[in-house]
Amino acid sequence: MKTKAAPVAKSTFNVEEIRAQFPILKELVHGKPLVYFDNGATSQKPRRVIKAESTYYATINANVHRGVHTLSTKATEAQEAAREAIRKHINAKHAHEAIFTSGTTAGINLAATSLGQLLLKPGDVVVISGMEHHSNIVPWQLACERHGAVLKVIPITESGEWDGQLADELICQLANCKILAISHVSNTLGTINPVKKLIALAKKKGITTVVDGAQAIAHLDVDVQDLGCDLYAFSGHKAYGPTGTGVLYGREELLSRMPPWQGGGEMIDTVTLEKSTWAKLPFKFEAGTPHIAGIIGLGEAISWMEDYDKSAMAAHEHVLLEHATKELLAIDGLRIIGTAKEKVGVISFVIDGVHHYDLGTLLDQQGIAVRTGHHCTQPLMDRFGVSGTTRASFACFNTIAEVDAMVAGVKKAVKMLR
Ligand code: ALA
Repeated sequence: MKTKAAPVAKSTFNVEEIRAQFPILKELVHGKPLVYFDNGATSQKPRRVIKAESTYYATINANVHRGVHTLSTKATEAQEAAREAIRKHINAKHAHEAIFTSGTTAGINLAATSLGQLLLKPGDVVVISGMEHHSNIVPWQLACERHGAVLKVIPITESGEWDGQLADELICQLANCKILAISHVSNTLGTINPVKKLIALAKKKGITTVVDGAQAIAHLDVDVQDLGCDLYAFSGHKAYGPTGTGVLYGREELLSRMPPWQGGGEMIDTVTLEKSTWAKLPFKFEAGTPHIAGIIGLGEAISWMEDYDKSAMAAHEHVLLEHATKELLAIDGLRIIGTAKEKVGVISFVIDGVHHYDLGTLLDQQGIAVRTGHHCTQPLMDRFGVSGTTRASFACFNTIAEVDAMVAGVKKAVKMLR
């Protein structure tokens, strides 16, 4: 857990007070109050975040780092203030270690492309796990193909955890393992992985570590220095911020050695028709005009989260998870996929004789939003022998009454479908 020097008074966690800040929660869907349990796909946004984005457009819209005029200066200051808020939130040493991206997918593609070029030679190995999102599989497959490297996979146990012994063996016994790329939290299972332990082992072997933090950032206290990772990618939109925003954190020394992955404006120091040289961090990795409004919104989302005690938020989500687990398991023929001891508020399930797509559609008719399908984790679905699941993923604004509404909705749907 992070040690932060910020002993400011935290608001007491109060779910009704939090709900009042999310305008969308007042919407009706099919005439029913919205129950939003698809936060793993994207979380809803508090009013403050929506306002920050529109205020930028209404008052200081201009390009950043490009002009001497007042609006450009103000836009630049607002964007860089967001970078500093993010630095503080993840406890990075320097703000320039936070690269703005369009989301976790872009962050991992940056990492795979650039690290591939820097580190991989024919016969080298990249290790991932069997519970990765496609975004933390496909970029590494592409990098391996490009450089003649091999992808190895940590197997997943029946409870939805890494096989710890095999993970350790993979890391320790492969002389040519160069990169370890693992998710902090599984989007499908909710498993919180012991990333810190595996990173420590990888570090001893000189392996570069990349963490997919997409599902962790809104739920855990992420401290990149404490984790000891080299790179850590996350999205803004899963952490109460705007879509199209994200961050790739990287250790300064590693980022300095990594080649840029996209060329264009703002990422250069000098350009001649023969050759270009690169700008300093973080700009070397930020070609083109960024999503300025979104970044400012992300900074606001981070500040919004900082106003609350994250452990109180996590405890609230855990109560929802425990309640949902108990109530859902009482339904005949229902099986939960992902029963790890350490989980965030994500619950994936299948029901005998009920297709997840039909269940999701019937829940939607009752105003309840869940995700159905393979959740961009097809290898994990294969591991569990299912084509897809129904997934409820909670956020701090959800309530026990909403969980009860979902359970009642599932029971009703099962009666209709069986
Ligand atoms: N990765 C997102 C999810 O798990 C889209 O739903």
